[in-house]
Amino acid sequence: MRLDKFLAHHLSTSRTVVTKELKAKKVTVDGEIIKSGAYQLMPEQVVHYDGNEIIPVTNKRYFMLNKPQGYVCSTDDPDHPTILYFMDEPMPEKLHAAGRLDLDTTGLVLLTDDGKWSHRITSPKHHCQKVYAVTVEQPLTKDLIERFANGIQLHSERSLTKPAILQIIDDFHAELTISEGKYHQVKRMFAAVNNHVVQLHRKQIGNVVLDMPEGEYRSLTQDEINSFN
Ligand code: URA
Repeated sequence: MRLDKFLAHHLSTSRTVVTKELKAKKVTVDGEIIKSGAYQLMPEQVVHYDGNEIIPVTNKRYFMLNKPQGYVCSTDDPDHPTILYFMDEPMPEKLHAAGRLDLDTTGLVLLTDDGKWSHRITSPKHHCQKVYAVTVEQPLTKDLIERFANGIQLHSERSLTKPAILQIIDDFHAELTISEGKYHQVKRMFAAVNNHVVQLHRKQIGNVVLDMPEGEYRSLTQDEINSFN
């Protein structure tokens, strides 16, 4: 790859700016100052800009994070810290969440810079299952199992929710599996049956099961990545 293209990509700037920085002798390749943007960079070569090594991001990245409360899943928010706070990775701003959680919801968030892959998780066409641990305010009743399986009419939605699997654990705790991702879906489903979600935690997306402590993340395995194909 041309050096100016590599620099423009990794410094998120234009080739015009890169040309100036090269002329200012701020770039070295394997320790040697390079001033030409046309320089052909080999994958094994090490580039420094202003004394800092540029770690090339060539491959797509895939992570799971256990999101604590109080962090937003959008990557830019004026009022709250974002999930990128946890991502000790080069260029974290290139990552996005494949399916968001509310500010007060905890648990599994998948992060990637592969838009096609995240689309397979979030697109309604793919019916990707998500499993939530739910704590509610009012005691759960058995009839809810059938009501959730049949679909619930949410406020200001045209169609019923898709069949959902409710497993009641005790009076106030349940596990809910849904295969769509409407805005605030789980909270709205319980609100529609006159209950209120007091705690919500995502445990699983597709076959990927959360196995990290809160606030920690890891790369997905190749099998986990491929499981959404
Ligand atoms: N449903 C909700 O209501 N909130 C979430 O964060 C995720 C699913």
